[in-house]
Amino acid sequence: MDSWEWNKIAGAVLGVLLFVLAIHFIAEAITKTPLPKKAGYAVDVAEDSEAQTTAIPAAAEPLPDFAAVLPSADVTHGKDLATRCQQCHDDTKAGPNKIGPSLWGLVDRPRATAPGYSYSSAMSANHDPWTYDKLFTYLRAPNTDTPGTKMSYAGLRSPQDRIDLLAYLRTLAETPAPIPAATK
Ligand code: HEC
Repeated sequence: MDSWEWNKIAGAVLGVLLFVLAIHFIAEAITKTPLPKKAGYAVDVAEDSEAQTTAIPAAAEPLPDFAAVLPSADVTHGKDLATRCQQCHDDTKAGPNKIGPSLWGLVDRPRATAPGYSYSSAMSANHDPWTYDKLFTYLRAPNTDTPGTKMSYAGLRSPQDRIDLLAYLRTLAETPAPIPAATK
């Protein structure tokens, strides 16, 4: 073989190498799809975690006039919101305590008194009834309202969401808790 022959062979080898490299780059460009922005298993907590980072003092928020707002609240929306609570709370009649105590008959029930449930000392520090006002404030930011509670839930930021939720929670009783009489 003369050098011309060798040149042809070297050229062919180089050509093949370049071809392989090119295929490799193209294949990589195709298969390297960007990672999805959201994880496949999205938990619906976006709004809740936002509430946690922007803790507004509960005292800064005016209490609604429940006599006026409850009759027009969206109970169906409240029921929908309550699915977030059901991860930890059963709310059916004579239902079991789960991670949290049963929410059946919650409105006007004295705090920390669900039979058979072992409350944190923070929660059982008093047994004042769960009035609409108290629930409204608590559910905004449980950990701010009752520091040390073992309810690890950031809270519902929107006042209207809490009103709708309370309108639903009051129906979870043999006799729904009365709507407070108008004060104004
Ligand atoms: C991650 C679990 C979890 C979620 C979600 C959760 N809770 Fe709780 N909840 C608890 C636990 C645990 C307690 C007991 C707190 C303690 O003893 O400090 C509790 C206690 C309570 C109490 C006090 C009950 C009593 O008998 O005094 C109320 C009211 C309450 N939760 C309402 C709600 C509502 C309404 C929602 C939905 C918006 C909700 N919780 C979502 C775990 C949860």
